[in-house]
Amino acid sequence: MSDENKSIHEFDFNLICEYFSTMERQGPGSPEVTLKALSFVDHLSNESRIADIGCGTGGQTMTLAQHVPGQITGIDLFTTFVDLFNSNATKLNLQDRVKGVVGSMENLPFQNEELDLIWSEGAIYNIGFERGLNEWRRFLKTGGYIAVTEASWFTEKRPVEIDEFWKDAYPEIDTIPNKVAQIQKAGYIPVATFILPENCWIENFYVPQIASQEIFLKKYAGNKTAEAFIANERHEAQLYYKYKEFYGYVNYIGKKI
Ligand SMILES: C[S@@+](CC[C@H](N)C(=O)[O-])C[C@H]1O[C@@H](n2cnc3c(N)ncnc32)[C@H](O)[C@@H]1O
Repeated sequence: MSDENKSIHEFDFNLICEYFSTMERQGPGSPEVTLKALSFVDHLSNESRIADIGCGTGGQTMTLAQHVPGQITGIDLFTTFVDLFNSNATKLNLQDRVKGVVGSMENLPFQNEELDLIWSEGAIYNIGFERGLNEWRRFLKTGGYIAVTEASWFTEKRPVEIDEFWKDAYPEIDTIPNKVAQIQKAGYIPVATFILPENCWIENFYVPQIASQEIFLKKYAGNKTAEAFIANERHEAQLYYKYKEFYGYVNYIGKKI
């Protein structure tokens, strides 16, 4: 099929997927942050069942797998990411305990009370924070944990430019106390919250994109969709550098009551 015959949506989807699949991470984070969040989770054993929802190519999943016992299922909507996830698991000899599956976070392939731990870095926004907390809860055993990262405001007030950007991109962004109240309301004990350090965004997410953007723009020279997509990525990064004292990702860890 030529590009002209693809719907713009399908082309966007493939482009975005190609762009992010060249990177180790598809969102802000770091192995240190994954391990810090994990330090609040107890009672995992060889029998534990863990899900990493919106796992991408599995950067954080492999860190997790190297530090916890049990079986881990990664779920992601994009086949390209899941294929890379499974080849990463094999490279690290984790293929017997770590499996990537194509699926939607809106229709998870688990039984009620099957899971000991739900992990999700930079992905719950796709379903929405409150909806994800509420809908995923039934898959956890009582006493099981959920650990997610979520865009959050650090202050009650912020400059109009960044406020408008986020309200358009993700209207559910909110302050940390409001997010914690939502965790409690959804039926979890809020066990811990901490802010991801800036290196998770800068060194691990925006800086690796600079070289990829050049390669991508050369490959798709003259392609308006590709150019608009990269301009958008660059704008988002510039806003982060300008306004990073007002927002960031926060790791929220809850325990099912
Ligand atoms: C910002 S990336 C984060 C990926 C990875 N957790 C990380 O931190 O590197 C968000 C991920 O959510 C996935 N995603 C988006 N909508 C989804 C859905 N409805 N169900 C499952 N995964 C989804 C995307 O394909 C992408 O891999």
